Amino acid sequence: MSQEISSLRKFVAPEIIFGSGARKMVANYAKTFGAHKVLLVSDPGVVNAGWVIEIEQLLLEQGLGCVRFTDVSPNPRSEEVMRGAEIYREQGCDVIVAVGGGSPMDCAKGIGIVSAHGEQIRSFEGIDQINNPIPPLVFIPTTAGTSADVSQFAIISDQQDRVKFSIVSKSVVPDVSLIDPDTTSTMSPFLTACTGIDALVHAIEAFVSTGSGALTDMHALDAIRLINNHLALLVEQPDDSYLREQIMLGSMKAGLAFSNAILGAVHAMSHSLGGYLDLPHGLCNAVLVEHVIDYNYRSAEDRFAVIAQTMGIETKGLTSNQIRKRLRNHVAALKRDVGLGSSLGKYGVRVADIPYLSANAIKDPCILTNPRRSNLRDVELVYEEAL
Ligand SMILES: [Fe+2]
Repeated sequence: MSQEISSLRKFVAPEIIFGSGARKMVANYAKTFGAHKVLLVSDPGVVNAGWVIEIEQLLLEQGLGCVRFTDVSPNPRSEEVMRGAEIYREQGCDVIVAVGGGSPMDCAKGIGIVSAHGEQIRSFEGIDQINNPIPPLVFIPTTAGTSADVSQFAIISDQQDRVKFSIVSKSVVPDVSLIDPDTTSTMSPFLTACTGIDALVHAIEAFVSTGSGALTDMHALDAIRLINNHLALLVEQPDDSYLREQIMLGSMKAGLAFSNAILGAVHAMSHSLGGYLDLPHGLCNAVLVEHVIDYNYRSAEDRFAVIAQTMGIETKGLTSNQIRKRLRNHVAALKRDVGLGSSLGKYGVRVADIPYLSANAIKDPCILTNPRRSNLRDVELVYEEAL
């Protein structure tokens, strides 16, 4: 019997504190990095939810200085990163704490990069372009899905070119991630659905990625199981702290999987879409996911069959094509159950936009690990299907 041996794989992760109350350790961790003055990065929604004042208070009580930077858009912009870096330098900060969803965390990563290099954030686009050590990053996520708190990705929006660009480097994995399910209690059902589907897509894409392997598969499958079993229930019962913790755990595991196995065509196409229309990231993924499953299926049949089984789909005695249809329908039904069942056309995408969207998607680093090698025409066809 022939036995294959594994390819070389690496696994990068931050120090993680997971559980109710983890956020309260923020000052201890900032001090561990020798902090005197913290730049606290967040956004207006998280300020209104009350998390920023709580974290600020925890830092001040321990004798640390704290400067707020909360002018971060839902899709963080290059100029916001540059402004945050200016404040970090002007104020003599020495540690960055981010509290919020993917936007403040990605912006905080960008601020760290610019603070350490003094150049425009766009010049760090791509894989492993960061040379200098960046300031310590302590992250407290308040959504369950983005996983910027465990990932080596930062996604920044360039408003001038209407594109989102990806920075991929282990330098942007935070030093510490305080993952506290209590913080997600302020998410609306819509945000719970968007971020939960984003996390599910992270896990699916990581499991079928050409960069997948033994170190990431277990996290990807566990994430798929957790999100499949609990997301729709959580949207119905947002006050259930058990469900909240299961989804936070699923999101974290999906993050550990995709940060190391990387992603695929859903994210490449979704970044392009989000940059062009400034739509929520999870919503973009939700519109595309089953169309990309259809497109990729034959290139990773065995792996998709395992995903189907993990989602509780009976596959015994079925042909590959039948499993594909069941998986596709199951994912589409889950999206509908959480209130995200639309097509691209509903969000204003026109046939005439597809060449531009496709040209950007094909340049995104996430396309490199998609299980099916893709050219411009392939991507155009998937967008057309999703219209
Ligand atoms: Fe994502």
